[in-house]
Amino acid sequence: MTEKGEDRALEEFPVEMTTSRLRLTPLDPDRDAVGLHAAFGDPEVMRWWNHPVCAGEADTRERLREGAGRTGAHLWTIRPVDGDEPAGMVGLLGGVEVPGLTWILRKDAWGRGLAAEAAGAAVRHALHGLGLAHVEAWVEAANDRSLGVARRIGLTERGRLAQRYPHREHPHEMIVLGRAGGAEPATVLGAEAVLPVRDVAARLTLLRAALGGRTLFSVGDPPQVAGVGFGPWSVGPRLRLEATRRWRVARVTLCLDVGTTFEALHRRAVAAGADIARPPAETAWGTREFVLRLPEGHRVVVAAPA
Ligand SMILES: CC(C)(COP(=O)(O)OP(=O)(O)OC[C@H]1O[C@@H](n2cnc3c(N)ncnc32)[C@H](O)[C@@H]1OP(=O)(O)O)[C@@H](O)C(=O)NCCC(=O)NCCS
Repeated sequence: MTEKGEDRALEEFPVEMTTSRLRLTPLDPDRDAVGLHAAFGDPEVMRWWNHPVCAGEADTRERLREGAGRTGAHLWTIRPVDGDEPAGMVGLLGGVEVPGLTWILRKDAWGRGLAAEAAGAAVRHALHGLGLAHVEAWVEAANDRSLGVARRIGLTERGRLAQRYPHREHPHEMIVLGRAGGAEPATVLGAEAVLPVRDVAARLTLLRAALGGRTLFSVGDPPQVAGVGFGPWSVGPRLRLEATRRWRVARVTLCLDVGTTFEALHRRAVAAGADIARPPAETAWGTREFVLRLPEGHRVVVAAPA
């Protein structure tokens, strides 16, 4: 789901920030790579990172350029207030649908509360400066130090998922922790199904526009299979769309429990021009529901407590 504030964030650039012990300067890969290589070239620090240890300063510079060049990235180099030597990096990742935090410190800066101090400033900037509705961090379940940072800056667990980094042989468990800027966004609860459809791209567009779906993956051009997720976090209910050439397909009915977002989602579905097969009504079993119909006849029952 794209919030108004998230669109705005894409247009803004990082600003310099200071905390009691730190100066956070917008990441400049050309200037900062040499100093930051102390972190990105250290196997102990990189044990948890999503790419292998950088081979040299040029490799670190390339990786930093790639990260900083992603749409929506807001990255800062962490420096002591009274010095120039980079201690690490903190900020918001680019190229993600849910705003995601990142942090890293060179080993000799660990154990002084500097990561939490820097990440705390980044969170305040994200939520109150940029006006993002929420931020999250994906932390490997075994990365106790990073979990400590996340919790110290007010992020709480939202769910877990399995992920495999290309340079690792086995998948690992990720904990997704999040913090909302204001009132907590209600979470859409539970559903997973496979829907055969004639036009995967078109159904994906419809589910994004009408129900705030997020594209989890898409395979083929035009897409033959795609995953759609619902709700504000990168975990939660999801369904899969699979291409079929058949004109008649077995119809699937999917029930999405959307809690307190029911009315807003109904308005959104109507505004998107979706086929509302049944308008909102109370059921005998204590829910309020409306039904959105896809062209193949599949029905998405959107439900909430009455
Ligand atoms: C994750 C990482 C940035 C955490 O660094 P850190 O220094 O442990 O984190 P913090 O800034 O929160 O510091 C907390 C530690 O400082 C200590 N500390 C000392 N003075 C402090 C102060 N004034 N305020 C707060 N904590 C202080 C705390 O007791 C704690 O130490 P402990 O864990 O031994 O109890 C660092 O381990 C790292 O770079 N890891 C590799 C990269 C990585 O994993 N990134 C995240 C991927 S999700």
